[in-house]
Amino acid sequence: EIFKSSSEASLIIAQEIAQLIRDKQEQNQACVLGLATGSSPIKVYEELVRMHKEEGLSFKNVITFNLDEYYPMTKENSKSYHYFMHQHLFNHIDIKPENINIPDGTVAIGELNQYCIDYEMNIRNSGGLDFQLLGIGRTGHVGFNEPGSHINSGTRIITLDYITKVDASSDFNGIDNVPKRAITMGVSSIMRSKRIVLMAWGQNKADIIKRTIQGDISSEVPATFLQNHTNTTFVLDQSAASEL
Ligand code: GLP
Repeated sequence: EIFKSSSEASLIIAQEIAQLIRDKQEQNQACVLGLATGSSPIKVYEELVRMHKEEGLSFKNVITFNLDEYYPMTKENSKSYHYFMHQHLFNHIDIKPENINIPDGTVAIGELNQYCIDYEMNIRNSGGLDFQLLGIGRTGHVGFNEPGSHINSGTRIITLDYITKVDASSDFNGIDNVPKRAITMGVSSIMRSKRIVLMAWGQNKADIIKRTIQGDISSEVPATFLQNHTNTTFVLDQSAASEL
C-alpha cells in the first residue's frame, strides 16, 4: 500500500492497531503486539498516544515484545531501545509495566543463550504475536536480523552489519561508538506473527524495498522471507515505493 506521506500512512497503521486492541478487549483477551524502534514507527506511536489521551484507548490488555536491543546496553542510556520505547510510547499510556518486554542489554554474556530462549518462550506463552510492526534497515534487516540470518532463527545475539553501524553512527557520535552487537528476535519469531506490517519511508529505503518485494527470497536480504507470510502488508510512502 502506497501513501502520499508517512504521516497519512502512520495514521492508518495506528488505527489498525487500535482496532485490534479494542476487538481483543471485547473478547476479554490479551492483545500481543511486537514493536519496533527507529525513526519509522515514531508517528504511529504518537497517534496511539493521542488516541489514548483523547479517545480513551486503553492498553491494559496489551502485552508488548520489542524486536531488539543493542548489546551491551543499559536501560538508562538515551540511545537504548528501552529508553526510546518509554520516551515515545510507554510513559504516555496505561500499559501495565509487567506486560512490557524489551530484550535486556545488560544480561551477562554467559546467561545470554538462556535469556534468549526464555524471551522466545515468553512470546509463545503469551499466545504468540497478534501483530508485528516492522521497519527495515538498508541491509534488508528486520529487527536486527542481518544478511545471513536463517529463516528458522529465533531470538539470539547477532553481530551488526557495517551498513547498519554506518546508519546508526550519527546517533552514537561516530561509528566507533556504535555497539557491535545486538539481541534480536529471529526471523522465525517474526514470521509466526498472525499479522505483519512493515513500514518504509523515504528515498533511502527505495532500493532495499525493491530488493525485498521484487527480489528472490534469500537470507542475503532477510526481509524477503516476508514474501512467504500470508498476512503481511508493506506500507510505503511514494519515495520508498519509487523504484518498484
Ligand atoms: C534499526 C532497528 C530496526 C529498524 C531500522 C530502521 O536498525 N533495529 O528495527 O527497522 O533501524 O530504522 P529507521 O526506521 O530509523 O529507518
